[in-house]
Amino acid sequence: MGGMFDPLDMTTVDTRAVHAGRDDLAALGVHVPPIDLSTTNPLPSVDAGGDAYETLATGGTLPADASAVYQRLWNPTVARFETALAELEGTTDAVAYASGMAALTAALLAATRDGRRHLVAVRPLYGGTDHVLATGLLGTDVTWARLDGVAAAIRPDTALVIAETPANPTLDLIDITALADAAGQVPLLIDNTVATPVLQQPSRHGARLVLHSATKSIGGHGDVLAGVIACDAEWATRLRQVRALTGAILHPLGAYLLHRGLQTLPLRVRAQQAGAEKLALWLAAHPAVARVHHPGTNDPAGLVGRQMSGPGGLLAFEVRGGAPAAAAVAGACRLITHAVSLGGVDTLIQHPASLTHRPVETEAKPDGGLLRLSVGLEDPEDLRADLEHALAAA
Ligand SMILES: Cc1ncc(COP(=O)(O)O)c(C=O)c1O
Repeated sequence: MGGMFDPLDMTTVDTRAVHAGRDDLAALGVHVPPIDLSTTNPLPSVDAGGDAYETLATGGTLPADASAVYQRLWNPTVARFETALAELEGTTDAVAYASGMAALTAALLAATRDGRRHLVAVRPLYGGTDHVLATGLLGTDVTWARLDGVAAAIRPDTALVIAETPANPTLDLIDITALADAAGQVPLLIDNTVATPVLQQPSRHGARLVLHSATKSIGGHGDVLAGVIACDAEWATRLRQVRALTGAILHPLGAYLLHRGLQTLPLRVRAQQAGAEKLALWLAAHPAVARVHHPGTNDPAGLVGRQMSGPGGLLAFEVRGGAPAAAAVAGACRLITHAVSLGGVDTLIQHPASLTHRPVETEAKPDGGLLRLSVGLEDPEDLRADLEHALAAA
């Protein structure tokens, strides 16, 4: 229908975040999405039930009025969150899991078919991801590469190229378009957990799979463990099949909370980013701090403003005195909670070398003096005062 007014063409990420996945609510006579907790669904007949089972167990989807058969295969509340997330990431589909690591596992199982078991991965990565790849627990074989070595590392049996940008914990940025070019025909998976779709949509730059630990900013309140992969229809079919067969579907209560979390995601991300920018500048001038890592101040390839619309709310800093000094700072924080995870409403600090990146091989382990700070929604002045006191105590 050429020329017809489409309000979605006009909307920003803020508007989409509020309305995505809710188009049918008025027709249902409700204002917020219903939560469907059914683990099993009545079957209209043996034949219809069998057909539905066959479709879902091979990764297909059903019309809204068909029986979903069994929650491990499909759930409407989970599907609603997936629709919303896909809309924000600019993909046709998304598939949600019980954790970010369950999502990564599904991506590896879905990608390593037909005898292709080789992966090319760019460090740094979240420690859990690094650990799964380095151990080869899922039967994969990894080659670690930098951006300029990715093309040479690709083999005929390469199933996937994997990277994070900004990377956890050092906030290194990588040019997704250049990486997709280097990957060539091999699909590229980008972990977009740190940026969120508010600041960056990797599928627009050539990523075929966009992974989130939705436990982080998407949930945003530290009360849901979840993962999701935004992708095209072909990959979604593969990923749903893995999910149906291996059983790591997201719980519908979690899906409801994540869908609600999306509505405030742009506001939260921008407020956290504003706080992080102030704290990064202040930390960089502090005598006890050797180095600050934040895309706002460390962006050699000029990707902020081009690939990412802003530097985000996560930063890291290296304290003078190495691991003992870093441990003392983390332990001395009062307002800031000493805990892993990131992207929530409250500020968290943690020591990656001992915790999130503990399993990473020595040559790729973060610096012992590095602390990661996930900036929340508190007044940045209060956070600064807490860090001042903690740095003095160390
Ligand atoms: C960047 C990144 N990717 C993936 C994960 C794994 O997600 P989850 O803890 O939800 O399994 C995390 C968790 O910290 C992460 O920070």
